[in-house]
Amino acid sequence: MSILVTGGAGYIGSHMVLSLLEHGHNVIVLDNLSNASSESLRRVEQMSGRQVILVKGDIRDRPLLDNLFSAHDISDVLHFAGLKAVGQSVEHPLRYFDNNVSGTLTLCQAMEAAGIRRLVFSSSATVYGEVATMPIHEALPTGSPTNPYGRSKLIVEEVLQDLAKADARWSIALLRYFNPVGAHESGLIGEDPNDIPNNLVPFVSQVAVGRRDVLYVFGDDYATPDGTGVRDYIHVSDLVEGHLCAMQAIARQSGVNIWNLGTGQGYSVFEIVNAFEAASGREVPYRIAPRREGDIAECWADPAKAERELGWTAKRRLDVMMQDTWRWQVNNPEGYSPA
Ligand code: NAD
Ligand code: UFG
Repeated sequence: MSILVTGGAGYIGSHMVLSLLEHGHNVIVLDNLSNASSESLRRVEQMSGRQVILVKGDIRDRPLLDNLFSAHDISDVLHFAGLKAVGQSVEHPLRYFDNNVSGTLTLCQAMEAAGIRRLVFSSSATVYGEVATMPIHEALPTGSPTNPYGRSKLIVEEVLQDLAKADARWSIALLRYFNPVGAHESGLIGEDPNDIPNNLVPFVSQVAVGRRDVLYVFGDDYATPDGTGVRDYIHVSDLVEGHLCAMQAIARQSGVNIWNLGTGQGYSVFEIVNAFEAASGREVPYRIAPRREGDIAECWADPAKAERELGWTAKRRLDVMMQDTWRWQVNNPEGYSPA
């Protein structure tokens, strides 16, 4: 049996593929390489000493999916493929709904036709919208995401809930990630943003390595201890371990299961800058800029449900998240593309 990882050449997916191989699974990756390089998987093969089948293609391509499912004996689908740039989703909503929503519909239709009904979906804490009190637990109603990217995640969650209601043979995990950061401890694979990074940690890391001059801190007047935004940063390797636990859990029970994947601890932008400076030994110059539209003041998880039901907790602390990010950045200043 094999596991299909859509988006497996990307940031989180490549760490997932490595871990699956290390746990003895056979892995097939479906990725259109729109936001990734096959170099990530070449390195994963080198690190694991095992081979990955990379199918270069799109989750919206039904004939390709049908061929893939008939050529391989697949037990589970881990579905990471999607577009994720919030700002770009505001400019190109159709592109986002087509890729993230239609893509998932096509994937599920092909899975159903092939009789494969075990799916782990990469969702996001963004589905909660703006929440008044922290921490955020799964029983809270979903809110109103402030952008098309967030809405695409919420729509897919709702579609998958309806699907499982209609057919009890489906086993689905909706994993709501908080803020994934960090890189594999080897420094060989990590996050390689295509353009200017949208997210804080890759931006800070590029400033520290000298690719960018200065960090813009989006607002220092929030109602938070130091005025900057607070988030729940989680190491990508902890996130991957959460997926392994979720896969085991949905193999035992059907229906839809929702789990937050976060640490339960929030850090401000200034705390991230300080932690990164300590990890890298480099200065991270910053300027205060206006708030970014759509940003919330604070957001962190209540991870108790995942601990109780999956036996999973995030283990890696902030200093490790920053050290691993730095090792990846300094060893690969231009990411996967040769300097
Ligand atoms: P990523 O961009 O590095 O990985 C996504 C991968 O999917 C890329 O390799 C891309 O080439 C591929 N892809 C995109 N559209 C595709 C399509 N139509 N067909 C085939 N492949 C396609 O992003 P990531 O950070 O690894 O995120 C993985 C998943 O987790 C995404 O669904 C993302 O929305 C979700 N997520 C990420 C974060 C985060 O902060 N990184 C937070 C919450 C949720
Ligand atoms: N920030 C800056 N400067 C930057 C980038 C970010 O000050 O250059 C601040 C933001 O204002 C925020 C914090 O750093 O306070 C974290 O910002 P990120 O962009 O790293 O993360 P977000 O929480 O805004 O967004 C993330 C994912 C989205 C997802 C959202 C909610 O990137 O995909 O979490 O789950 F929708």
